[in-house]
Amino acid sequence: MRIYACPGNEAQARTLAAVLGAMHGELDWHRFPDGETRVRIGTPPRDEAALFCTLADPDPLLLPLLLTAAALREQGAARVGLVAPYLAYMRQDRSFHPGEAVSARHFGALLGAHFDWLVTVDPHLHRIARLADVFPRPHQVLHAAPLLTAWIRGHVPRPFLVGPDAESAQWVSAVAAELDAPWTHLVKRRLGDREVQVTLKDAAASRDLKPVLVDDIISSGHTLAEAARALRAGGYGAPACVAVHGIFAPGCREVLREAGIAELAVTDSVPQPESAIPLAALLASGIQGLRRKVSS
Ligand code: R5P
Repeated sequence: MRIYACPGNEAQARTLAAVLGAMHGELDWHRFPDGETRVRIGTPPRDEAALFCTLADPDPLLLPLLLTAAALREQGAARVGLVAPYLAYMRQDRSFHPGEAVSARHFGALLGAHFDWLVTVDPHLHRIARLADVFPRPHQVLHAAPLLTAWIRGHVPRPFLVGPDAESAQWVSAVAAELDAPWTHLVKRRLGDREVQVTLKDAAASRDLKPVLVDDIISSGHTLAEAARALRAGGYGAPACVAVHGIFAPGCREVLREAGIAELAVTDSVPQPESAIPLAALLASGIQGLRRKVSS
């Protein structure tokens, strides 16, 4: 298998190739002045090609991504897989207002039409329970909870784990079980893209413990910021934060700083200065597992 990196994913893809003992393939995207992209495969694929492309800010990526899948087939790949540590559009999992597209379904179907398999990490599966419900091809969903757990174990001696909303309970409870630590989740009401209300309903844990906010995605940062404020109002100290996917939309870091969040770690599903938790070994195990599943 050769692994090809979409621009911006080179370091992660090379590390993954090294862990897997796979070859790295050359891929180039040239942006013309008119905004179109020319895709060039520099190294012809063998039987199987894997395209490494995390899908933060997906709209400008999507067409070049699909053209690359087509080009890899033209150049001889019998199968083209997608390694997308962060899978976009999964939060649009319901028609929240009349007329809204359930984009998670359409996005998954579109990827399924172009890729033979998919490996991803903690996609936001909430109102849609399984990735199989949106992506119709072989896939492997990996979970970063053990890696988040290891980070907390190494950085926070006496943690109290807190999810900022009900949706985060699946991640927080898994981490809390591993650490044998108390946990709760807060209650969130989203009023807009950058406006949320978060309240602390169950404050049973001792104020001596260090709160650690655990979430799947940091986007605008407002969820964690309001959660940190709710904890402070409930008598807790400044929380540490750990999340799977650090999107860090414009203004996010300022929002977190103003809320007094200083300790924060995310995985490298989207490469960021805060990416203290590498995913290469997890992704490699996922690809190996999927290949075993497909070939058996
Ligand atoms: C929500 O469903 C997710 O689990 C995250 O809490 C949310 O996406 C974070 O978004 P933001 O950082 O924009 O508040």
